[in-house]
Amino acid sequence: MSVQTIITGTGHYVPPKVVSNFDLEKIMNTTDDWIVQRSGIRTRHYAEDGVGSMALGLEAARRALDDARRSPADIDFIIAATLSPDQYFPGIGVQIQAALGCGTIGALDVRAQCSGFIYALSVADQFIRAGTYRRILVVASEVQSHNLDYSDEGRDMAVLFGDGAGAAVVEPSSDGRGHRLLSTHLFGDGRFAKVLSMETPNSAKNPTFTPEDFEKKLYYPRMDGKRVFINAVERMPEAVRAALEANGLTIDDVAWLIPHQANDRISLMVAQKLGIPVEKVVRNIERYGNTTAASIPIALDETVKAGRLKTGDFLVLTAFGSGFTWASAAIRW
Ligand SMILES: CC(C)(COP(=O)(O)OP(=O)(O)OC[C@H]1O[C@@H](n2cnc3c(N)ncnc32)[C@H](O)[C@@H]1OP(=O)(O)O)[C@@H](O)C(=O)NCCC(=O)NCCS
Repeated sequence: MSVQTIITGTGHYVPPKVVSNFDLEKIMNTTDDWIVQRSGIRTRHYAEDGVGSMALGLEAARRALDDARRSPADIDFIIAATLSPDQYFPGIGVQIQAALGCGTIGALDVRAQCSGFIYALSVADQFIRAGTYRRILVVASEVQSHNLDYSDEGRDMAVLFGDGAGAAVVEPSSDGRGHRLLSTHLFGDGRFAKVLSMETPNSAKNPTFTPEDFEKKLYYPRMDGKRVFINAVERMPEAVRAALEANGLTIDDVAWLIPHQANDRISLMVAQKLGIPVEKVVRNIERYGNTTAASIPIALDETVKAGRLKTGDFLVLTAFGSGFTWASAAIRW
């Protein structure tokens, strides 16, 4: 039997500070009703000042390692997905490597935004099946709340995002046992790059930062929400269908669909388009908002720890985000 990648541990961490829609009402021009109706979000977690995506990712990584019964010394490669690194460079992969005390192993940052965890998992899968590495830590972590525009101009985005991190440990298996990663499918369309993006910092600009950039608030993320919505509800089902086809399975075989938690209306529409009962769709956006690359590993870990996954369950993860990027991963639990 050929080598397959298995998930041997999962973990997640969200910062303790809970911010409700009513809290947001006090600091910006929005209402609980607007947010709940448009997105299904009621609360999200915000990191304290001084806490960045590396710190959240580190805690999620520790929990995934504990779950896998592995120590940092067992890990031989790290792949970290984030669009909100503590610094522009270096990435959080090496920072987590140093903080865990993993010696001098390689660490890679993946920049695929909301699809980042599945992209990272796919890269890990290639390394494992090639025999390059044997125990890879895949971690996705985001702190978005420190760079959102809470004025009217940015309120469409500001209410959606939350902070958090999720992680998984992956290893090889050659006896068909364990939680097997069956396939990953990665897609992108850079023609839509500006629809959901952050303009500054921008290395094409000389100098990169000007006072005008700050006046125009170009350092905040911006999106055309309707175009994101329309594309997300087409692309995620497409990615799921690619996973089904590659594995010779149908939608009826899917025990759990774990979509990126972008907006609950998006998740429900994806389910409807695929014809999958809503009870099989993992939805936790109500409590966390959109945690970007971290949303899927947080949802996966919660589902695992709640004991909802049975041995042999077929689950599909799917994501869509800035780039545009979109992706799926199929897992036999
Ligand atoms: C952002 C989103 C919720 C907006 O919903 P929508 O149905 O497109 O918005 P609507 O047309 O109903 O409402 C827009 C109005 O609400 C206002 N509005 C925007 N944000 C608001 C907020 N937080 N509170 C109150 N009003 C708000 C707008 O100014 C606009 O007002 P106007 O009609 O007077 O100009 C929706 O487009 C969306 O979820 N898109 C996908 C976003 C996403 O998932 N991004 C991340 C992808 S990984």
